[in-house]
Parts: sequence; structure tokens; C-alpha cells
Amino acid sequence: MRVAVVGAGYVGVVTAAGFAEFGNEVVCVDKVPEKVEMLSKGEIPFYEPGLQELVGKNLKEGRLVFTTDAPQAILDSLVIFIAVGTPPRGDGSADLSYVEEVAKEIARNLNEYKVVVTKSTVPVGTSQRIKEIINISKNNNTGFDVASNPEFLREGSAVYDFMHPDRVVIGTDSDAAKAILRDLYRPLYLRETPFVFTDLKTSELIKYASNSFLAMKISFINEIANLCDALGADVHVVAKGMGLDGRIGSKFLHPGPGYGGSCFPKDTLALLRMAQDAGYHFHLVDATVQVNQKQQERAVEKVCQAVGGDLEGVVIGFLGLSFKPNTDDIRESPALYVAKRLIEEGASLRVFDPAAMKNASQVLGDGCIYCRDSYHAAEGAKALVVATEWNQFRNLDLVKVKEVMNGGIIVDLRNVYEPDKARSLGFRYVGMGRR
Ligand SMILES: NC(=O)c1ccc[n+]([C@@H]2O[C@H](COP(=O)([O-])OP(=O)(O)OC[C@H]3O[C@@H](n4cnc5c(N)ncnc54)[C@H](O)[C@@H]3O)[C@@H](O)[C@H]2O)c1
Repeated sequence: MRVAVVGAGYVGVVTAAGFAEFGNEVVCVDKVPEKVEMLSKGEIPFYEPGLQELVGKNLKEGRLVFTTDAPQAILDSLVIFIAVGTPPRGDGSADLSYVEEVAKEIARNLNEYKVVVTKSTVPVGTSQRIKEIINISKNNNTGFDVASNPEFLREGSAVYDFMHPDRVVIGTDSDAAKAILRDLYRPLYLRETPFVFTDLKTSELIKYASNSFLAMKISFINEIANLCDALGADVHVVAKGMGLDGRIGSKFLHPGPGYGGSCFPKDTLALLRMAQDAGYHFHLVDATVQVNQKQQERAVEKVCQAVGGDLEGVVIGFLGLSFKPNTDDIRESPALYVAKRLIEEGASLRVFDPAAMKNASQVLGDGCIYCRDSYHAAEGAKALVVATEWNQFRNLDLVKVKEVMNGGIIVDLRNVYEPDKARSLGFRYVGMGRR
């Protein structure tokens, strides 16, 4: 099948390479020429484990191409995935200008029947709006169908998630589109991946409901951790005890400095906005967002208290800047928020992240010292803050860390160390809800 994916970001490149791997002929379009040039050479403009290999293999085997030529890609394809960004506007609503721009481009190049699929996360009603835009803007009688196929991949394990999704959601009112998409996803269908077929609106809402629920789970365990701090209980054991209940599940019960990334913050706000526009106040998601904002500030206060209240001139080793491990994505990163606030409070920050140093330096500028590794970051520090749970931070030689530091405080915002072990090595250990 000939497929176009418009938008060569985290979702677009993974989707394009994934469908190429399934044996389709895929063209991935982006409007940024430098990005397309890099991708055409098999270089990935962002950090995502396993993606370079998958892209390289499919480029070499001739099933995948990257281009800036959207009209040609549309003309040549039966299925067109819209995978451009839907960033938040000032009022929390999703900015749909990129999506609408692509819809107009499709209308201008509708030479024969096509299925237009929204893979971007879009508010309820957007796929219907795309249908209207194409109908108004096209200059012939060619037929087309619209479908919603939200993406649930996680950055850091995006390739695995594309190949092994928990479910595939397809919303459409067209039997033809349903059959074509089922055919496209045949390798997953054969593997007995659950498929949810529904209408456009329900499909769009499934994505927001899923992300908001996960965000709520994080805010919930963060509040339990805060309560553990106040009551002297251990959040890890509470989470374990809760998570063993099959109705709750153990995932997303890890406390930290709040959720971040390109999805949860914007999708929770967009759901609130969508509900408000529909005349409904979504109390739970509202609280989820507020708890998350407070949690980030709470993390700053933890560091401040750990060093005695005044951060002015205090040297702090700071590990982790990306919003989660295995990515260089710093969008809405709580780690970056904490780093910025510590710098504002006068701390002298020595930062290290395995993948996000370049992106973070564009935000932090010359306000901190960029270090070559974790031990370099710890050098001369009064406190070491762990802000993102990269595996390599879990496996640090803490004896060596203690030797190079000038003080023995660990503020473990991700609970990666065992408090007793850290204390037995002479550290003063501060975790999140860990007695
Ligand atoms: N990143 C994730 O983990 C994730 C997961 C699930 C869903 N989503 C959703 O998928 C969508 C894309 O997210 P992303 O993180 O891949 O975004 P991104 O910002 O990484 O990439 C978007 C790309 O689209 C390109 N683009 C914009 N307008 C274009 C146009 N008219 N023609 C061609 N290219 C254009 C941009 O240049 C950019 O490269 C969003 O709606 C997001 O909410 C993201």
C-alpha cells in the first residue's frame, strides 16, 4: 500500500518507518528541509532508541523516503496520516493550524480516492472539521474518507510500542476506510492486537481520556508520596500494596517531580478546555493539573530545605534534564523546571544528562556548568539531585560520588536509590515519600 505520513517528528518518523517495515511504500513529509535532509541520510534529528536502525533498514530496502514535497506525496498515496504537532495555545486549547494546513494541502491534491487519517492528538470534532475543510477546498468531485487513529507510543520506547501496541483505535464512519486501515495494520491484526473500531468523536476522546487518566494516576501517587513524607510512611511499599490489586495495576505509580513531556501537560489542558466548551467542569483533571504544578515547586523546596534553606552560591550536581529517561525531549520537562528554579534561587548548578544536554542548553544558556558525566557533575557539590531516572544514574558508584562531592546530600526526586544503602555510605538521603 502507498502511504504518506505528514510530519516527521517523534510520531511521524516512527509511524512512517513502522509501516515501511510492514512492507508498505511510505513517504514521510516535513516542511523543514534540514530535517528531511538528515532523515534521507538515515540520521535521526532526535534521540529515540532503535529508530535509526529501523529507518536505515527501510531506506536501504527502498520502502521509505523523506521529502518536503507534500503535493507529490499526497498525489501518490492511498492513505495519508496527519502527524503534525498540536501544541497548546495560551488558553489551553490545542493549536490546530498545522493540522488544518495539511488538510488544505490534501484538498488541493485530491486526484483520486484517499483515506485521510488523524494520528496527531486532536480535540473531539477535529476529524469532522478536516472532512469539511477538504470538502470546501477541493476543486473536483473526487471522494475521500476521514478516520481517526490516535497514537499511544511512548517516547523512549516508541519503536517497540508501534510494533507491540496495547491496542489500535480506529474511528471512522466509512466501511471502505475501515477495511483499508485494517489491511494496513494487518501484521498487528494477525498478532491478535486488540482493535477498537468506533466513530470519529469517540476515537478522538479515547486518546485524551487515556492520557488524562495516566496523568491523574501520577498526580495521585505524588500526593500519596507527599502524605508519606508527612506521616512517615514509605510510598514504595504503599504503591506496591496498591498496585498488586488488579483493578489498580502497578504502572504509573512512581512518585517524582511531576509529569511532563509533549503530551500529558497539553492533553490534560486541552481536555479541560474541551469540557469547558461543552459546558462541563472536569474536576478530576483540573485537580490533576494543579497538583502537578505544585509538585514541581515542591521538588524545588525539597532541594532548598535539604541544603539548609538558602541556595545562594551552593554548588549542586544535577542529574537528568529530559522529561523522562531514554529521550532528549525536554518539552515541559519537570527536571528542567527544577533546574531553572534552582538557578534562579542562586544555586551554582553542574548539570549532566545522557541525551538532552544540547536541547537543555538552549533553555539554560550559560546559567550552569555542563558536565561530561555524572561524576563530573558531582564534583565539589554540596548536594546531588537526581531529576530524571536514567538507568545509568541508578548504577552509579556512590562511593566514588561521595569522594568527589564536597558534602553528602542526595536529593532523589525519582527514588532511584535505596535510602538505607545511601545512608550507610554516609549520605544524607532525601527521597519522595520515603521516610
Ligand atoms: N511525542 C509523543 O510521544 C506523542 C505520542 C502520541 C501522540 N502524539 C501526538 O502526535 C502529534 C505529533 O507529535 P510529535 O511529538 O511527533 O510532534 P513534533 O513536534 O516532534 O513533530 C511535528 C512535525 O510536523 C512538522 N510539520 C508541521 N507542519 C507541517 C506541515 N504543514 N507539513 C509538513 N510537516 C509539518 C514539523 O516540522 C515537525 O517536524 C501531536 O499531536 C502529539 O500530541 C505525540
